[in-house]
Amino acid sequence: HNVIFEDSNEASIQVAHEIAALIKKRQGQKRNCVLGLATGSSPIRVYEELVRMHKEEGLSFKNVITFNLDEYLPMEPNNIQSYFYFMHEHLFNHVDIPEKNIHIPDGTVSNEETTAYCLSYDRKIKENGGLDFQLLGIGRTGHIGFNEPGSHFNSGTRVITLDHITRADAAPAFLGIANVPRKAITMGISTVRKAKRIVLLGWGENKAGIIKKTIEGDISSHVPATYLQEHDNCTFVLDTGAGSELT
Ligand code: F6R
Repeated sequence: HNVIFEDSNEASIQVAHEIAALIKKRQGQKRNCVLGLATGSSPIRVYEELVRMHKEEGLSFKNVITFNLDEYLPMEPNNIQSYFYFMHEHLFNHVDIPEKNIHIPDGTVSNEETTAYCLSYDRKIKENGGLDFQLLGIGRTGHIGFNEPGSHFNSGTRVITLDHITRADAAPAFLGIANVPRKAITMGISTVRKAKRIVLLGWGENKAGIIKKTIEGDISSHVPATYLQEHDNCTFVLDTGAGSELT
């Protein structure tokens, strides 16, 4: 189902509180909490609120294990455009999560190693008990993670060729489209679908068209996010701009 908030700030705080409640519940059960995380502009305010709760309310991340959705390929972790850098900048450097609990696809793996590496990424998620919660943004192509149009319902973590629209949207951050990597490693649709709970964030009018297709359109690999319609515990959290074309 979908929930539409007046503004993305209030919506982000609600989502952060859901994540915090899950972390605390697991602490009570002496169990780890396995989170699937996204980068990009959409989740920034969620991470900010989680950091605030750590600093002001003592929310601990010691029992949290994270798996990020994607990383550009090739990409060095210390590069400021990397998702490794993004996650440390916005969340990991400011909370008490043990570094060994953090998993982000490695943008430095060689061509020969990628297949084995991607399989091991999915295996690690499974070995940790699966994703309790997956946070998603959505690209204008309808991608979730970097599962571009054409992605298979049963796809696992793999190397993908980025869509032109995705590269154009990333161009400002890379000071020109020519500098945007052509490939990425992404969790697959199947990897994401296995999460016990999914929350997709959509902010602003420039997402309204793709949000309409995602929620009201036919389920199809042309808009990979439509696969989420079949998940039994997925919420689309929108602001009025992103929800403006829904009937
Ligand atoms: C990022 C990711 C992408 C983004 C999407 C939206 O890890 O998986 O699917 O969520 O490209 O990006 P923003 O939030 O910048 O509009």
